Amino acid sequence: MAVESILVVDDEPLVRDLLNEVLKREGYRVTLVKDGHSALKRIKENHFDLVVTDVKMPGLDGLTLLKEIKKVSPSTFVMVITAYGSIEDAVQAMKEGACDYLTKPVIPDQIKIAIQKISQYQNLLRENRYLKSEIDHIYRNKQLIGESPPMKRVYRMIAKAAPTKSTVLIYGETGTGKELVAREIHNISPRKRRPFIKVNCAALPEDLLESELFGYEKGAFTGALEKKEGRFELADTGTILLDEISETSFNFQAKLLRVLQEREFERVGGTRTIKVDVRVIATTNMDPLEAVKKGKLREDLYYRLNVIPISLPPLRERKEDIPLLVNYFLKKYDSQDGRKLKEVTPECLEMMSRYHWPGNVRELENAVQRAIVVSEGNYITPRDLFLQINNDDAISEFPFDFSDATLEEMEKRLIQYTLRKVAGNRTRAAEILGVSVRTIRNKIKKYHLT
Ligand SMILES: Nc1ncnc2c1ncn2[C@@H]1O[C@H](COP(=O)(O)OP(=O)(O)OP(=O)(O)O)[C@@H](O)[C@H]1O
Ligand SMILES: [Mg+2]
Repeated sequence: MAVESILVVDDEPLVRDLLNEVLKREGYRVTLVKDGHSALKRIKENHFDLVVTDVKMPGLDGLTLLKEIKKVSPSTFVMVITAYGSIEDAVQAMKEGACDYLTKPVIPDQIKIAIQKISQYQNLLRENRYLKSEIDHIYRNKQLIGESPPMKRVYRMIAKAAPTKSTVLIYGETGTGKELVAREIHNISPRKRRPFIKVNCAALPEDLLESELFGYEKGAFTGALEKKEGRFELADTGTILLDEISETSFNFQAKLLRVLQEREFERVGGTRTIKVDVRVIATTNMDPLEAVKKGKLREDLYYRLNVIPISLPPLRERKEDIPLLVNYFLKKYDSQDGRKLKEVTPECLEMMSRYHWPGNVRELENAVQRAIVVSEGNYITPRDLFLQINNDDAISEFPFDFSDATLEEMEKRLIQYTLRKVAGNRTRAAEILGVSVRTIRNKIKKYHLT
């Protein structure tokens, strides 16, 4: 798609001859005309990749010709040649959509470089188109698996939410596919070609999170050397995913509330109000009402977010989907050319459906991935899964005899029990036990828990 055909428009024979010689030597197909009207006639008859035109010509001048070309053949690049020193012409031409300008006297190398730049630009365009289609492909391949009634309910909610601009609140245990659902909503929404921006609210301390989301002005704080656009601005006309919203402070939640209500905000350290058109999707791994009760989620924010609630079922409540998921992950991870895919034995599937999957689909995905590696031969057997069914059943009954245990011992065991129940998710464990994540971290160190 590089530049191949070039139309040269100039009333001076010397310039035409020079360009003709230089460009032909470079291998381009060159057509020469001496005024704007004949140029336009040629362009209507044939396609040219590039038109190189003088500005000052009798009859139709170069700038008018440029405007006409943009009307009849918008994909044609136009380069203007201006007299030495007439910078206004050059500026005007660029404003009207010229891709570049040359000044007289034309130097051969200059025009060669200018045409190379066009080709580079075209390459970028092509690459961009390619990447867009790749991204589409990746997301199409990351599908939601499951045909159980609870999953069908989820699909119906996704279909309802996608065409609208309404805020969506997705909640469910860790690993149930909240992010996947958020992406799916975006991908089938009218905004699918626009940005999808994810913000992990749990990962950043409050002030960083604020400047990440809203951006900042130059000098807003030490180290703010340049102004920076926040994620809300980057997501303009697209979708923003606020992941783990219940991990943020009430103060921060109040600021979010305003954006949700007014779709406007100021950058940190700024006074100018910025308006955005952003679709908001939020997630939490707590039950939202429970989060409100526990003081993790502002009630007013909850009502704003909860326009379309989507609750994702834990895997243990849709065990009929396990075989589908196992097959899906086998195909995904066991793709060594030529060799037949490994199969899962019936005992293995049976064991999987007895297990209660605290880490949900993510845990299942990891288990299958690991089993593919450790299993010998063509079959994956219960041994390869490392699911501690018995232990897990045991801990779900909390069978510790506390009658003669010290307080420390009880604490240690309770923390260990809780951590196992939530598959090691410290945030969840902290929530359940009503302490801070830091406390959990310290106790894990203190008691040498894993
Ligand atoms: N229904 C599903 N079908 C196929 N893959 C799924 C499904 N649900 C989840 N997964 C996969 O499980 C993994 C975890 O999913 P995701 O990140 O969306 O979960 P999450 O609910 O956001 O978890 P967390 O609360 O820990 O952030 C991903 O690799 C995802 O592709
Ligand atoms: Mg997530």
